[in-house]
Parts: sequence; C-alpha cells; structure tokens
Amino acid sequence: MKTIPQLQIALDYISLPPALVMAALVAPEVDIIEIGTPLCKAAGLDAIHGIREICPDKLILADFKTPDVGGIEAAMAFDAGADMITVIGGAAIATVEQAYSVARERGKEMLMELTGVRDILARATEWRRIGINRIVYHREWDSQSAGRIWGQEDKDIIRQLIDMDYKVTVTGGLTLELLPFFADLPVSVLICGRSIREQPDPRMAAREIRLAIARLWSDSSTGGSASRPASSTTNLAAKAIRWGISEMGLSLTVDGRECPGCNSPQRFCHGSRTEIQMPHGVDRQQFIRQLLEGIEPGESQAAGMDPSGSFYLDVGALSRINESKVLNLLSATGIALQKAGHSANTRAAMEAAHNILNE
Ligand code: 5RP
Repeated sequence: MKTIPQLQIALDYISLPPALVMAALVAPEVDIIEIGTPLCKAAGLDAIHGIREICPDKLILADFKTPDVGGIEAAMAFDAGADMITVIGGAAIATVEQAYSVARERGKEMLMELTGVRDILARATEWRRIGINRIVYHREWDSQSAGRIWGQEDKDIIRQLIDMDYKVTVTGGLTLELLPFFADLPVSVLICGRSIREQPDPRMAAREIRLAIARLWSDSSTGGSASRPASSTTNLAAKAIRWGISEMGLSLTVDGRECPGCNSPQRFCHGSRTEIQMPHGVDRQQFIRQLLEGIEPGESQAAGMDPSGSFYLDVGALSRINESKVLNLLSATGIALQKAGHSANTRAAMEAAHNILNE
C-alpha cells in the first residue's frame, strides 16, 4: 500500500491580512493550512478564527511550538478552531502529556516539534511510551541560512521514527526540486512555506508540488504507512473489522482518500489498522468521546481520530485478539455513531465480522 503524503502550506506571516489572502488562494491545492509560529505570535487566536472562517473544511494546524502550559495552549487553539497543534521537543514531559491529553479528549492531534532537539531518538522513545504518534522533523530556517543542507543522516533518523510507528511530517526549506530526495520515505506530511508563498503564482506552485508528491510517492517503493507487520490472527481480525465497517455503510479511507475496493492492488486492507471516513454531519468530538468510552481504558489506542478527519480502529492495539474484542470495537463504533446522530446497522456489522472470523 502506498501512502501519498499530505501537503501543508506554512503561513509564516507577521500579520493576519496577507495570511488570509494566501490561505484563500492556495486552499484548493493543499491538505493542511498551518498558522506559522510568527503568525501565531502576531495574531494568535484571531489568526485561527480568521483562517477557519475562510477555510471551513480544511485541516488547520497552529504551529504554537508550545514550551509550557501545554493543556491550556492546546485548549485555546482547539477552541478557536484548530485541528492540530505542535509542542516544542524541549518541553517537559508534563507539558507534552497535558497537551496530548487535551488533544485526545477532543479528537484532535498534537505533534512534537523537533526544532533544536539533539537526542531525537531518545526523546521520541519517551514520547512514544505515552502514546504520541506524530512528529515534525525540521530543518530550521536559521540552520538552513547558516548552511545546513538535507543529508542521508536526516533520512536515516526519519526512517527510524517511521519504524517506531510515528507519522512523520518533514519541513524546512522544502522545494519542488528537493522532493525526490525524500520520495523513498513513507512520510505523512510535507510542509512547504516559502516555496509556495514566494512564487509569482502561489496556487500554481502548490498545485505543481501536490502533483509532484502524488507522482513521486506512487512511483517509489516506500512500502506504505502506519500499517505494522501483522500476524494471521491480526490480519483476520482486521479483515473482520473492515467487512463489518462496510456493512455499516461506511467507507474505508487512508489520509482522506477512499479505498478503491477489495479487487484493486491499491486496496487498503493491510496491517492491523483500518481508517474509516467520518460520515457526513457527525459531530466528531461527540463521536470520538463516545467511542473511547466503549473501549477498555488500557486499549484506548485501538480507536482514534486522524487529522484528515477520518477515524481509525486498530486491532493491533488490543491486549489480546479474540472474537468478542473485535465485535466490541464494532459495537462501540455503532453506538457512538448513533449517539452522534448517524444511523448505523451494528447488527449487520457484527454478523459480517462473525462470519469472517469463523470462515
Ligand atoms: C519555521 C517553520 C516553517 O513553517 C517551516 O520551516 C516551513 O517553512 P519553509 O518551507 O518556508 O521552510 O516552522 O520555524
């Protein structure tokens, strides 16, 4: 399975008006709109409100690079309309935990920002233990202007982070010309700021970058995204989830793209994790809160939200895999959907899953 990285535009402005113009211009060509750190400092929550108003359907990341008061800053950003925030890698673990906890409660995302972090793999191991699974690998502006160039050692670290099951965002002076260098890595998000904003036609620049990413990552042999190697029991359980979910009338998806179906070589049915499109009109926060209530606390990683707006079920995160655990995931999903206002045929889902598990 190939994963095409999402494209994020960084709005590193020092006032809001040009950022709003740029967001409106490039929104159709990008997946995520980032309120850059300078803009967060210049216009703060007004920037989040403003971008949300003109891009109601886009994912918005507030690049706070939060150093302290993690829970409060996360809540401020999410209340204002952001889907994702960043916390600086040097922050205390308590700050990381508090921001992450608020993100989880609200079905939002929190990313660790590696700016300035020297012992990346040691810190990444520590964050992984508390559940963090998103990370931003960054060549800082100032390091770039001091001459730091992207090299094989960066790619080696990025690969190790991916092997630790991180979804990795790569950023820092990325250009159209630099993309092929990264194309053998299954990264999740690529951020481009200046290479879009500073072009004579930013929308066209964004389109070119988006198309280049699609071409480069479909041609390469990156070997896929978050799916882990799975045992035959895990595979069967994941298949039961997928059939059950389809019986509920929901669509499988990866990073917002719809699964092309079981007969396609590009099908998404690999590994332990199933990504599912959120049905239209469902209150995401209410849904995820309810879904997590239906799952045992020690297994809360078995369900969650993706920044693309989809949600996932991951049988690989169950403490042990058996029929009742698989059926419980489906039943919790059905109940959560119903409580969030979407009718779902949970019984048909459970029957389909039962048949797969006993075939
Ligand atoms: C600076 C940032 C930038 O948003 C990031 O580096 C992307 O911008 P560019 O593509 O222009 O380097 O986080 O700290």
